[in-house]
Amino acid sequence: MIIRPATLADARDLCAVVRRSIVELCVEDHGNDPALLRAWLRNKRPETAGAWIVHDMNRCVVAEFHGEVGAAGCLRLDGAITLNYVAPRFRFQGVSSAMMRRLEALAQECGNTQCTLLSTATAHRFYLARGYVDNGPAESRFGLSVHPMRKVLGAP
Ligand SMILES: CC(C)(COP(=O)(O)OP(=O)(O)OC[C@H]1O[C@@H](n2cnc3c(N)ncnc32)[C@H](O)[C@@H]1OP(=O)(O)O)[C@@H](O)C(=O)NCCC(=O)NCCS
Repeated sequence: MIIRPATLADARDLCAVVRRSIVELCVEDHGNDPALLRAWLRNKRPETAGAWIVHDMNRCVVAEFHGEVGAAGCLRLDGAITLNYVAPRFRFQGVSSAMMRRLEALAQECGNTQCTLLSTATAHRFYLARGYVDNGPAESRFGLSVHPMRKVLGAP
């Protein structure tokens, strides 16, 4: 596996990974409710993914397995992690842990002392185990309840 910067040519694959990850892995969040899924997936389109990739405030990366995009991540330059999605067939193989290490390193290179994110219910335990703490009350995004979290970088 290599984690590398995403290019515009990755937009379609990045988008497909994010959509599959949401639909198949985040059932704890959307409960297979068609309206919730529709709202969550509405902006997950190749052209939107392309806009995330080229935006000068973002650093999007992909994890590639023998030419196949298996996970996607995105850091905003202010330290917010705005994407961390793994394709179902690469789950539980250490991919998201490696992705988080990369995004946190990027955040530090950009001068940040902390990372923030809005966690799904699905990933909440995963982030707690990686040093993130809850950072305020749950918020609503796309009709879903998400958990603001933060981690001070460089802390043990
Ligand atoms: C939760 C999730 C983010 C973890 O990603 P991943 O690539 O599978 O993560 P890793 O392989 O790096 O680590 C998996 C964790 O699950 C545990 N695990 C491994 N195999 C497992 C299994 N068969 N069943 C349950 N847990 C397992 C590991 O122990 C590890 O946790 P730990 O190191 O704290 O013990 C991912 O599986 C997921 O569901 N993503 C959905 C998209 C999402 O919600 N993204 C976050 C947006 S904010």
